[in-house]
Parts: sequence; structure tokens; C-alpha cells
Amino acid sequence: MTKILGIAGSLRAASSSKAVLRAVLANLPSGVEGTTAEIWPLPHYNSDHDGGPEVAEFIAQIASADGLVFVTPEYNYSIPGVLKNAIDWASRPAYASVFAGKPCMIISVSAGALGGVRAQAHLKYILNGMLAHVHPGQEIVIPQAPQKLDQGVFNDAAILAFIDAQVSDFCAALPKA
Ligand SMILES: Cc1cc2nc3c(=O)[nH]c(=O)nc-3n(C[C@H](O)[C@H](O)[C@H](O)COP(=O)(O)O)c2cc1C
Repeated sequence: MTKILGIAGSLRAASSSKAVLRAVLANLPSGVEGTTAEIWPLPHYNSDHDGGPEVAEFIAQIASADGLVFVTPEYNYSIPGVLKNAIDWASRPAYASVFAGKPCMIISVSAGALGGVRAQAHLKYILNGMLAHVHPGQEIVIPQAPQKLDQGVFNDAAILAFIDAQVSDFCAALPKA
């Protein structure tokens, strides 16, 4: 079974990023299973410590995944600090971390009109810096994402169909488990 690990860049319960990630993981192609990484328990990055069991678990989840799907909002023209903090924990040793060679795809959301496109560009730059393999494909940016939830479920059919095509393409390109 091919394994996808989903990572959301927002911690809030009613997050549109989390809702989109739930939709992605619920609709993976056959032979692909998805789980979600919880980044809220991770401490602030400090290289004086190893971060404890939560960090070890997060790194192990990334290591054992065949591919990562990030769904993140844009905060102040970049990715949220909580997501950057999580990535920093799993980024050592530099150029030889669990991110090196890891296939990744990115979906960005925003409450405004631009769909988090600047955060998406920043996340690609960060992942490239860790030698992760960002899947080449049409960018998925979701504007006004919070307005597209119905009782916590992301329900924009056109965007879901577009996501489905991109996720299928990403999964098809993953090395076979
Ligand atoms: C601290 C903060 C900074 C934000 N900065 C931006 C921004 O730079 N660009 C943008 O489009 N939206 C920005 N927003 C609005 C987010 O796009 C919006 O809150 C979004 O719904 C958050 O994602 P979530 O629903 O997954 O929590 C910001 C929100 C917060 C809380």
C-alpha cells in the first residue's frame, strides 16, 4: 500500500486547510492510504534538545510516507510559523533529512482572493532547500476557502474535481511501494 502523509498548516479546529486535507485523504486512488500528521504538539524548535517523542513521531511519519501532501494557509505573505517550526524539526541533518528526495505536493488556501499563492511559493522554496521533490503540476490555490465549507466539509465540487486530478497525478508518479 502506498502511504500519503497529510500536513495542514493551520491548527484551528474549523480550519479550511484541515477540511481540504480531509477531503484529499478521503478520496485517494485505490491502493493509496492517507494519514494526518499532528503538528500542534511540537515544541518550538531548539537545537539544544531533540524535541522529545512528538518530534520523533513526526519525523518517523515523514520517513515512512511515500509522499507528503501539504495544505496550508498564507499568513502574512508566507507560511504559518507553526508549519515552518514543524518543518524545521524534521529538516536535520541538512540535505540528508527525511525530506531529502521525498515527493511532495502543495495546496494553499486563503480567506482572500489570492488563494495563498505567496505561501505556496515560499513552501516550494523551503522544500527545495531540503532537497524534497515538489511534484510538478498545475498549482492548486483555493481563494475564499473558509466560505467553501459546509458544516466543516469542503464542498466546492469544481475545486474538488481539480484537486482530484492533481492528486491522482501525484500518486501515479510515486515510486511503487
Ligand atoms: C496571522 C494571520 C495572517 C494572515 N495573513 C494572510 C495573508 O498574508 N494572505 C492571505 O491571503 N490571508 C491571510 N490571512 C487569512 C487566512 O487566509 C485565513 O485566516 C485562512 O482561513 C486561514 O486558513 P485556515 O482556514 O486553514 O485556518 C491571515 C490570517 C491570520 C490569522
